[in-house]
Amino acid sequence: MIKKAVLPVAGLGTRFLPASKAIPKEMVTVVDRPAIEYVVKEAVQAGITEIILVTHSSKGAVENHFDRNFELETTLENKKKYDLLAEITNILPDNVSIIAVRQPAPLGLGHAVLCAKSVVGDDDFVVLLPDVLIKNNDVDHDLTRMIERFNESETAQIMVEAVPDHLVDQYGIVDVELVPEEGQSIMMQGIVEKPAVHDAPSNLSVVGRYVLPAKIMKLLEKTPKGAGSEIQLTDAIAMLQETDAIEAYRMQGQTFDCGSKLGYLKAVLHYGIEHPTLGDDFKSMIKDLDLS
Ligand code: G1P
Repeated sequence: MIKKAVLPVAGLGTRFLPASKAIPKEMVTVVDRPAIEYVVKEAVQAGITEIILVTHSSKGAVENHFDRNFELETTLENKKKYDLLAEITNILPDNVSIIAVRQPAPLGLGHAVLCAKSVVGDDDFVVLLPDVLIKNNDVDHDLTRMIERFNESETAQIMVEAVPDHLVDQYGIVDVELVPEEGQSIMMQGIVEKPAVHDAPSNLSVVGRYVLPAKIMKLLEKTPKGAGSEIQLTDAIAMLQETDAIEAYRMQGQTFDCGSKLGYLKAVLHYGIEHPTLGDDFKSMIKDLDLS
């Protein structure tokens, strides 16, 4: 059973400045909660009970968000604001724990994942990149399907989606013989980090959700610097593929890249109109906008 998730949250968020100058980019609010809460809840919905944050000295607020806050709780209790009290105390179910480890230097995503090695131990695990929010309907939950597929096939799963050609050089890109249907996995022939579009094996991009065997850690230890002079998770996955089958899982949901400003605005719109209490009013506000 896959119970552990690694979330690399040490990145400084330069794409999101100035918002991320004094607060972690993961704490920027999408409607009424920080972006990281959506990602952690996505993991929990897929059955994860141990969240491992790979963090940085400037990111204390991320840990604090999931911790108890005695002063605030007491104040809300005294003021009889029980709904708010419940909201801030029950962010995660009791059986879910959050553990933080540090990434001491910005050496890349692969290095960030490797920083979680001692906590991951011999367990297979998932990686969720916190910049990307994934919206699924209640029935078709992509990360759950990936974990189920990993359990039945014992092959690592890499979530992918098609991107337009001009975006290919911003992502990990997979090589497959056939493009799978949405919600299906297919054997991956290769994977390459941020190729030029004319060298890219496809336009299927790595979305930022991975189900990986514990042994990827050993490969990360010997992964040399790659694209951008960083230790890339993509390169360790390519190394794993020399000995093990790996599958690309084509997602069904919708992605929002909250590391970019426009992607973030799109997320606010989509999550805003579906918010259980604010959604209807927010939709009317959008309809009332005079965009001419
Ligand atoms: C990382 C991964 C890349 C993946 C992307 C998804 O890149 O290295 O393979 O496609 O996340 O967001 P980054 O965005 O950190 O440069």
